[in-house]
Amino acid sequence: MTALSDTDFPVTLDIRTVPTRPVEGQKPGTSGLRKKTRVFMQPGYLENFTQSLFDAIGGIGGKTLVLGGDGRFFNDRAIQVIMRMAAANGAARVIVGQGGILSTPAASNLIRIRHADGGIILSASHNPGGEDEDFGMKFNGPNGGPAPESVTDAIFARTAEITEYRTLDTPDIDLSALGERQLGGMTVEVIDPVADYAALMERLFDFGAIRDLFASGFSMRFDSMHAVTGPYAREIIERRLGAAPGTVVNAVPQPDFGGGHPDPNPVWAKDLVDLMMGPDAPDFAAASDGDGDRNMILGRGIYVTPSDSLAVLAANAHLAPAYAKGISGIARSMPTSRAADRVAEALGIEMHETPTGWKFFGNLLDAGRVTICGEESAGTGSDHVREKDGLWAVLLWLNILAVRRQSVADIMAAHWAEYGRNYYSRHDYEAVASDRANALVDRLRGMLAALPGQGFGGLRVQAADDFAYLDPVDGSTSARQGIRVMFEDGSRVVLRLSGTGTEGATLRVYLERYAGTDQPHDLDPETALAPVIAAAEELALIREHTGRDRPDVTT
Ligand code: G6P
Ligand code: ZN
Repeated sequence: MTALSDTDFPVTLDIRTVPTRPVEGQKPGTSGLRKKTRVFMQPGYLENFTQSLFDAIGGIGGKTLVLGGDGRFFNDRAIQVIMRMAAANGAARVIVGQGGILSTPAASNLIRIRHADGGIILSASHNPGGEDEDFGMKFNGPNGGPAPESVTDAIFARTAEITEYRTLDTPDIDLSALGERQLGGMTVEVIDPVADYAALMERLFDFGAIRDLFASGFSMRFDSMHAVTGPYAREIIERRLGAAPGTVVNAVPQPDFGGGHPDPNPVWAKDLVDLMMGPDAPDFAAASDGDGDRNMILGRGIYVTPSDSLAVLAANAHLAPAYAKGISGIARSMPTSRAADRVAEALGIEMHETPTGWKFFGNLLDAGRVTICGEESAGTGSDHVREKDGLWAVLLWLNILAVRRQSVADIMAAHWAEYGRNYYSRHDYEAVASDRANALVDRLRGMLAALPGQGFGGLRVQAADDFAYLDPVDGSTSARQGIRVMFEDGSRVVLRLSGTGTEGATLRVYLERYAGTDQPHDLDPETALAPVIAAAEELALIREHTGRDRPDVTT
C-alpha cells in the first residue's frame, strides 16, 4: 500500500458507518484487552472494541489522543485502523510515535505533558508477540494512568450493545517521518518516541554522577529483549550516560521479540542471569519487557527480587535529585512482599496495600499520598508518570550506585541487616483448566472463616481473608482480590488467579517468610521458604487441583 503525503488528502472525507454486532468476551483484564493476535485480526474485532472505547468515554470529538505500541506483530496495522476511526469519530489530534512505537511509560509521559485526553497503547506487555501469539490494547486516561475499573467496565458494557462503528476509506498514513499530516479533519502528529522521555529522566536523576560512575570503569549490561526499550536504552544509557557501546543488547524491537517471551525474569532472561552468576559478570545488569514498563535488576552474583528492589529504591530514593526532599509514601500490590512496609515504618511515611494492577496506584499518586510504588510482577515506578517504568527503575538504581559506590550485593546485605529480609518466591501453575483453578479458589474461600488457629505443615494460621480494597481517595471498593493467609511466625501465603493470561487459568502462589535482623539473610529462598511451601500445599491442595507435581515457573 502506498502512503500519501499531507498534501494528497482532501480536508473532509466521507465517513463510513459500518453496521456491526457485539463480539463476546471483549472484557479488559488487569491490563487492557489482551487476546491471541488472530482474535484481534478477525474482521471487525478491533473496530468494535475501538468504537466501544470511544463511545464509553463520551465520544472523542475535538479530543487529543496519544497512540503507540511496543512494535509487536499487528501493531502497524492496528494503528492505521485506530487512526482512521479516531478521525471518523471527530478527534482533533492524534500524537503517535514514529513507526508506531511508544513504550508504555513514554506514552504515559506524553499524555501528561501534552495535556491529552487519553492514550491508546498497543501491547500485550511481556507476553510473546507474533501472528500465533498475543496482542493487546490498553486505554489510559488524562492523568496518564491505566483506565480505572469504572471506565473499563463501561467499555465492556458498550461492547455488548454496539451496532455500528465509524471509519474512513483512506490509504495508510506514513508514520516513518516526523511531522504533521492530515487525516480528514484530524491532525496526525508523528513524534520522536524517545526525546521527551529521555528529557524527563535527565530531570529526575543525576546524570553527571552516573556518567562519572561509567567513566570510572563501572560495567553494565541492559537487555532490551528485542522489545521497545532498545531505542530508549541506547539513547539514555549509551549516548547520554556514556556506557560502553554494546552495553545495551537485543536493542532492535522485533515483531516477534526474537521468538522469546519479552519478560524480564530469571526464566525468560536466563542468559542474563547466567552471565551475572558467572565469572565474566559486569557490575550491574537489567532487563525490560515488551512495552518497557517492567524491570529486572541484577548485581554480580545476585538477583534482586522486585519486592526487595521496591524496598531498596524507597529507602535510597533521596539520593536522586527528584526525590531529595524525601518521599510522601509507598504503595505495593497485596501479593508483593512486605519488605517495603518496614522502610515506610522507619521513614514514618504512609504505606498502602492495593489490589494487583498498576491502575490502583493512580489515585494515591494523583493525591500525592505516595511517591513510589511497586509490584512483585517486576513493576516499579513513581509519581513522574502514571505507569510503572522499567528504565526509571534502572536509572534510580544507577543513581544510587553512583552515590554509594558499593556493589549491588553489598547494598542488599546492608539493607537486610537494617530491616531484616523478607524471603520471597512466586510459584506459577500455567494454563490450568479454568474450572479446576476456580474450584481451588472457591474451596479456600469457603474455608477462610475457620482457618485462624489451624495448623498447616507446622505453621499456625493467625488470620485469613479474601483481600478487599477500599480506595482511600475515591471511596471505591474492589473485592475478591486474592486469598491471604497470614501465619503466626510472620510468614504469608497468597493465592490468586492471574488476570493477564490468554489460555485457561494461571494460578499464582506467593510465598513469603520474614527473617529478622538477627537471623541469617544468605539462605537460598526456596530453602528458607520450605515450611511455607509445605503449608501452602497442605492448605490449598495445589497438586490435586492442578494435576501438577511442581510449578511451571518459579520466580
Ligand atoms: C500487568 C499489570 C501489572 C500487574 C500484572 C499482574 O503487568 O500492568 O500492574 O501486576 O499485570 O498480572 P497477573 O497475571 O498476575 O494478573
Ligand atoms: Zn509491560
